[in-house]
Amino acid sequence: MNEVRAIVAMSKGAAVTIETILVPDPGPGEALVQVQACGVCHTDLHYREGGINDEFPFLLGHEAAGIVEKVGAGVTSVAPGDFVVLNWRAVCGECRSCRRGKPWLCFSTFNATQKMTLRDGTVLSAALGIGAFAEKTLVAAGQCTKVDSSVPAATAGLLGCGVMAGIGAAVNTGNVGRGDSVAVFGCGGVGDAAIAGSLLAGATTIIAVDIDDRKLETAKTFGATHTVNSKNVDAVEAIKAATGGNGADVCIEAIGLPQTYRQAFEARDLAGTVVLVGVPRPDMEVTLPFIEMFGRGGSLKSSWYGDCLPSRDFPMLIDLHLQGRLPLDKFVSETIKLEDVEEAFHKMERGEVLRSVVVF
Ligand code: APR
Ligand code: ZN
Ligand code: ZN
Repeated sequence: MNEVRAIVAMSKGAAVTIETILVPDPGPGEALVQVQACGVCHTDLHYREGGINDEFPFLLGHEAAGIVEKVGAGVTSVAPGDFVVLNWRAVCGECRSCRRGKPWLCFSTFNATQKMTLRDGTVLSAALGIGAFAEKTLVAAGQCTKVDSSVPAATAGLLGCGVMAGIGAAVNTGNVGRGDSVAVFGCGGVGDAAIAGSLLAGATTIIAVDIDDRKLETAKTFGATHTVNSKNVDAVEAIKAATGGNGADVCIEAIGLPQTYRQAFEARDLAGTVVLVGVPRPDMEVTLPFIEMFGRGGSLKSSWYGDCLPSRDFPMLIDLHLQGRLPLDKFVSETIKLEDVEEAFHKMERGEVLRSVVVF
């Protein structure tokens, strides 16, 4: 048993606190990871606000990298000393999707079997089955993906959630290719990653849409060729103007709002693709002209975690970063300490950061 400091959301809406938690040694199929860095993501805030479920207390944090300290019986995929990025979809290899050769859609992903607890034995719900705002965390071995250890943990860890979701929305789900035009709605960490992914995939027109000029400036540094402030101008018209009147081949919604989804739908060229990677609230509904859904052809897709396969995508993206072709480090707005997570939530809400990253 390991006693470590961690960030816990004790009850709905309350500021997060630092608690001492108990992390079991790894059992069969599990790995104990010494966390080196963990980014602050919107989903952590959603947990804290009771927006995911009511299973408080939550051990927050899920965008992380670190060193494997111990592995349990039967673990062969990683070994103590390995530098790993944690993922929240360890594929099972046996469900109906895995068996049909689509493991990135696995319907039965793994987490650690044993539970981490408070000192009094209260079981903690680990955010997305990870819980990495902690000096050590216990995960399923398949949640650890070994990558080149020359990348700083604060940079590598971001692949564990939002940045992977954005890049994958473009390259995996949207299938962006050479010469494509892409419009990205929402230029936070996820949208900017979709822009960087589109650039990497060879898109020649990349239109960034946001309501905040600061975000649009940053989007340019990731590869946006055009920017649209949709507070001032009609986003659909502006995207059409930038694409010869046709609309974009791929429209990526990285906010999670019905109105921006509708814009993405309307700003798409014939036979184009809409990718939804922003996460809607459960009460939201979207209305679309049915005849246009048919008449425009193409496809409306959702992107879970960028439809990534961690074992395939994390090492590849780290390699591209090391070759200077993917500026992963630019997503790190600041590095902070564990006790600064609550303040980082406020900075996120004020739109001041792409990612604040806790470094241990
Ligand atoms: N139109 C255009 N842009 C908008 C609008 C709008 N109506 N509302 C918000 N935005 C912009 C914000 O200004 C911000 O730049 O969308 C961006 C959202 O970025 P972040 O809040 O930083 O969120 P991010 O971490 O990028 O995640 C985006 O993806 O994974 C999901 O849960 C996540 O739903 C969230 C989305
Ligand atoms: Zn599976
Ligand atoms: Zn996340």
